[in-house]
Amino acid sequence: MATRLFEDRAHAAIYQKYRFSPQENLQSVIFSYLEEKRVSPGQLAVDVGCGSGQSTRMLAKHFEKVVGTDISEAQIEEARRAPQPPNVSYLVCPAEDLPFEDGSVDLVTAFAAVHWFDGPRFLREVDRVLKPSGCVVFSSYNRHMQLCYKDCTDELTEIFREIQDQLFTFRNEKIKLVENDYQEIFDSLPFQEKQRMTDIFDKIPLSVADIIGYIQSLSPYRLYLEAQPEEAKSLLQNTERRFLETMGVSSRDTQLELRTKHICILGCKSS
Ligand SMILES: C[S@@+](CC[C@H](N)C(=O)[O-])C[C@H]1O[C@@H](n2cnc3c(N)ncnc32)[C@H](O)[C@@H]1O
Repeated sequence: MATRLFEDRAHAAIYQKYRFSPQENLQSVIFSYLEEKRVSPGQLAVDVGCGSGQSTRMLAKHFEKVVGTDISEAQIEEARRAPQPPNVSYLVCPAEDLPFEDGSVDLVTAFAAVHWFDGPRFLREVDRVLKPSGCVVFSSYNRHMQLCYKDCTDELTEIFREIQDQLFTFRNEKIKLVENDYQEIFDSLPFQEKQRMTDIFDKIPLSVADIIGYIQSLSPYRLYLEAQPEEAKSLLQNTERRFLETMGVSSRDTQLELRTKHICILGCKSS
């Protein structure tokens, strides 16, 4: 069954502001694969569950036309509001019912999204819309992240883990697919030619304010906020205070580095 969690306007606005786009090493893995499979440069790429479009815009240089799709109108409004290349457009539609002709799409991607869909229905739809030799890329970061700043990386990372553990009591059970590094999704992908990578690392420069914004954008935080608003808000305030004290700084604009670990499924339909 599909799961709908990212649909209110406030969440979409936080998403647009604080979620990051795929970084250098992940992009390099993806585009090397697509070049090897001769899918990039190509005609049409569809980024499903595109949210506010961070991942969609990254595809623009490599395809004549890129369409981002999402079930949430609020997310698509945010995506359309951002500056974009002229070959990128957006549609509101479910991942399980994509409005594209049979065999018309070169690439289907889903970033931090495929685990929310109805897996079997989505994969049937992907198989239908892809051209022969068309490709898929399903990627997500998991929660094994490090927060790096001078000599307090271990301490900051420990605080960050503790907060994530606390929030994960509110997680939807679909998150288990991410915790299992997309093994089940990989097993269900009906292509002979497929691979799953679980060790792609990237570095993202951001401020303490950005990392607090990122925590706010997580689906378990949104569920916590709904269930216990005062506790959720004070969790954010306390976390920010702990980060600043540990770093020995007073400004939430202080820059640090987030190190992310990605899962990535790459696959190619037979010709
Ligand atoms: C965690 S966000 C990822 C957004 C973006 N791809 C990114 O990398 O930041 C997941 C997105 O999937 C969308 N979504 C969830 N279920 C969906 C479905 N069944 N069909 C289409 N989109 C869906 C949500 O609305 C949300 O925008």
